[in-house]
Amino acid sequence: MVSFIAVVRSLCIFLVILTLVLAVTPPNVIQCPHLCGCPSKTLVICEGKVDKLTYIPRIPATTRKLVFRGNLVPEIYRDTFKNITFQSGNRVEILDLSNNGIVFISTMAFSKLTYLKELDLSKNYLRDPDGLQKALVGLRFIHVHRLMLHHMDLGDDSIPSNLFEPLTYLNSIQTIDMSDNVLNEFDFQTLVNLTSLEELILSSNRISGLTDKSFDGMNLIKTIDLSSSNFQDFVTFSEDIMSTLLPKTLEILSLRNSILGNVPRFNSSNITELDLSENKITKLHLEDIANYPSLRVLNLNSNRLTRISEGTIPPSIQDQLIAVGFADNPLLCSCDIAWLHNWMVKEPLKFLTMGTQIECLSEETGSFILLEDYKPTNCGSISHVTLTITIACCVIVVIIIAVLIFCYRKRIKLFCYVCTRKRGGEQLVLSDNVGI
Ligand SMILES: *[C@@H]1O[C@H](CO)[C@@H](O)[C@H](O)[C@H]1NC(C)=O
Ligand SMILES: *[C@@H]1O[C@H](CO)[C@@H](O)[C@H](O)[C@H]1NC(C)=O
Ligand SMILES: *[C@@H]1O[C@H](CO)[C@@H](O)[C@H](O)[C@H]1NC(C)=O
Ligand SMILES: *[C@@H]1O[C@H](CO)[C@@H](O)[C@H](O)[C@H]1NC(C)=O
Repeated sequence: MVSFIAVVRSLCIFLVILTLVLAVTPPNVIQCPHLCGCPSKTLVICEGKVDKLTYIPRIPATTRKLVFRGNLVPEIYRDTFKNITFQSGNRVEILDLSNNGIVFISTMAFSKLTYLKELDLSKNYLRDPDGLQKALVGLRFIHVHRLMLHHMDLGDDSIPSNLFEPLTYLNSIQTIDMSDNVLNEFDFQTLVNLTSLEELILSSNRISGLTDKSFDGMNLIKTIDLSSSNFQDFVTFSEDIMSTLLPKTLEILSLRNSILGNVPRFNSSNITELDLSENKITKLHLEDIANYPSLRVLNLNSNRLTRISEGTIPPSIQDQLIAVGFADNPLLCSCDIAWLHNWMVKEPLKFLTMGTQIECLSEETGSFILLEDYKPTNCGSISHVTLTITIACCVIVVIIIAVLIFCYRKRIKLFCYVCTRKRGGEQLVLSDNVGI
């Protein structure tokens, strides 16, 4: 009886406590927001494909990456991020805000996103020329590693020399992507104090100016993408400047589609990947590639090369290359490229990595054939054959002369004898006359 009462009492106490607990704790587990997808615990994707969001919603506390793309948030203030700040229980590290029709960002907008490491503002067109400069102020005390400013219509006047000054406080920025903007006279001095920078992407800007000070202070830079620039031949640079133009730490360089007529000789011994495709290079000189002794990837696709003589790619570099591209060049099927054919047949994978197959123009048929199908039959062997024939002819001539001499040896002897006698006789006659 006593035990029954005890059981009922404990049950009641338990129920009361349970009710209290449920009443006090709010339901703080936030579900995946409406119009968004959550492929994993750490990733939320709100891609405004049909219905566009006009605010940044509450997201699960486990979220580290928020892709908020293609929505409509024209003006960004600090409060816009209220739902995803540390104060609201979030630790967003990667924030993609691309293509949201953003025209204005207030100066301290990003200042509460304490854990931010990557920020993507691409495909937004800020109204004021100094709009970007204002936006970056809020990043002053945030450890941003990557900043994507791709396709934002940024012109030279949007890039004042102190644009990245806020990022020099913590100096954690490693990657800046300003590709596909309208920069022509980009002032590299803007980047001078960003000493942690490892990757700089400035492709598709038609940048034409580069000075020997351009990359000063970038002591850690490994990748520079200047493709679709306008460098012509680097004609304005002397050889001395060329060899010091790029940082010695550089490993990956793209100058694709930059109107180059020659392989630039940077003397960058650490470059492992060099993309020179889609230029106007007509000739490879002997030292061109030897200047890049660490090269592992070389792309010369879509240039104007007709011949590539043996030796332009030193054997040591041939060995260490893992990918090489010569496709889409008007190569002639001549003995000059027989070595290339042989190399390709020996190591086809190195060539296949770069995609399209290499062709050469056959002078016999007047049409292009695959380099691997080209049969350089009497190339290396032609001199061999000539040499053999020449030696054989010499030997035959020598033998014939020897045989002739042997056969006519008596006549020759006689002839010699007659000659000597004749001369002796004349002398006699002469002395006779003297005697008279
Ligand atoms: C926060 O998110 C909720 C819905 O999740 C939304 O109603 C609200 O407007 C958001 N707040 C801000 C400041 O965007
Ligand atoms: C770089 O730092 C130096 C020294 O602190 C400063 O004088 C200069 O203005 C800075 N340059 C830029 C572009 O931030
Ligand atoms: C070249 O690269 C190697 C390996 O990445 C590195 O140890 C070396 O310091 C680099 N040289 C220069 C001049 O940066
Ligand atoms: C290239 O660099 C190396 C070492 O970095 C140096 O010894 C050499 O003289 C340079 N060559 C030219 C042409 O500047």
